[in-house]
Amino acid sequence: MYLDPEEEKILAGENGETRQKMLELLVALGKVFGAERLVRIRSAQISGASYKTIGEYGLAWLSSLDARAVVPAVLNPVGMPRERWKEMGIEPAFAERQQAVIAAYERLGVKLECTCTPYYLHKTSFGDHLAWSESSAVSYANSVIGARTNREGGPGALAAALIGKTPCYGLHLEKNRKPHMIIDVMPDENDWNIARYGALGYHAGKLAGNKIPYFRGISPDTDQLKALGAAMAATGAVAIYHVDNITPEAKKTGYNLSGLEVISIEPAEIDRLFTGIPVDAVAIGCPHCSSDELIGIAKLLKGKTVTKPFYVFAAQGVINKNEKTISAIEKSGARVFADTCMVVSPVMERYTAIMVNSGKALAYVPDMCGAVARIGSIQECVAVATS
Ligand code: F3S
Repeated sequence: MYLDPEEEKILAGENGETRQKMLELLVALGKVFGAERLVRIRSAQISGASYKTIGEYGLAWLSSLDARAVVPAVLNPVGMPRERWKEMGIEPAFAERQQAVIAAYERLGVKLECTCTPYYLHKTSFGDHLAWSESSAVSYANSVIGARTNREGGPGALAAALIGKTPCYGLHLEKNRKPHMIIDVMPDENDWNIARYGALGYHAGKLAGNKIPYFRGISPDTDQLKALGAAMAATGAVAIYHVDNITPEAKKTGYNLSGLEVISIEPAEIDRLFTGIPVDAVAIGCPHCSSDELIGIAKLLKGKTVTKPFYVFAAQGVINKNEKTISAIEKSGARVFADTCMVVSPVMERYTAIMVNSGKALAYVPDMCGAVARIGSIQECVAVATS
């Protein structure tokens, strides 16, 4: 693998032991995946930030590092809201260890935003190289923005943040971004809302596995693309997909689709995921809500009072930009929390059945929270929570 003179110096230990070790890690990854060189990145998004996942061992490793991020870097959601953890019912012992993990990342120059939607905080453009960890964010970056990132593990993304580069292989290379299969979505009369796109992604991810699908027959907006990609990355390993006439690479590149396998999805295959099971909580914001989603929720909750716990999750930066909207949502008794989510917070384990509007949450809630999951549109979630 080619290293330039500056990289050779780092590898020789001239910029400190941490940066030397981090570059060793990137070079080792590059060799495993056949990278010929490193590529500069615009930003990093780092998983492995929840104390629930990394524990004392991970905290000790982070605390032993001594370097600063050289590109904008944020964290994936952690186990609790940094400010309002008491209000969410987090145990003080957990909060204390979670804060220690966050402080360790802060010392490394990582911005204290814990979100799976870093694209709402840092400008990310077509063709940018990134080192992002969270699968839904990776899918959004590659597919909706046309940026380039592999799905990084936590240590690989942290190393990339501290060095400012990542090995150039996989989805950083144009030749690896072409579609492998076509998914034709058959027309139906249903309202194609965010939840229905999440359900489509839940089903399509199982069909696609780790192939790159090219969708025909759908016209999602950006929030709906976010839901589709997040679910496909959860039930499959889809890190990039294309939608005919919608996503930038499908429009710009004009892929030759002849000879590709074609799979059709019938409305009934999606309909069967929508059940009417009773729930004891509602959670929206997987992935974290956009401003538009928050505004939509506020409108639906206007003049109503929730009778069940109703959680909304979004990035702190997005919450800060929408203060009036957040107040309007919370007036109903619903709560809007930053930094965490329905899957990584231990608080959600107290419920037996949770209603979501997300295909990804439909896939993860049963295993991660030990609860049954029901999917429905935001309108249905509000109706159930206020009935
Ligand atoms: Fe984000 Fe948590 Fe869903 S990290 S994509 S809200 S599982």
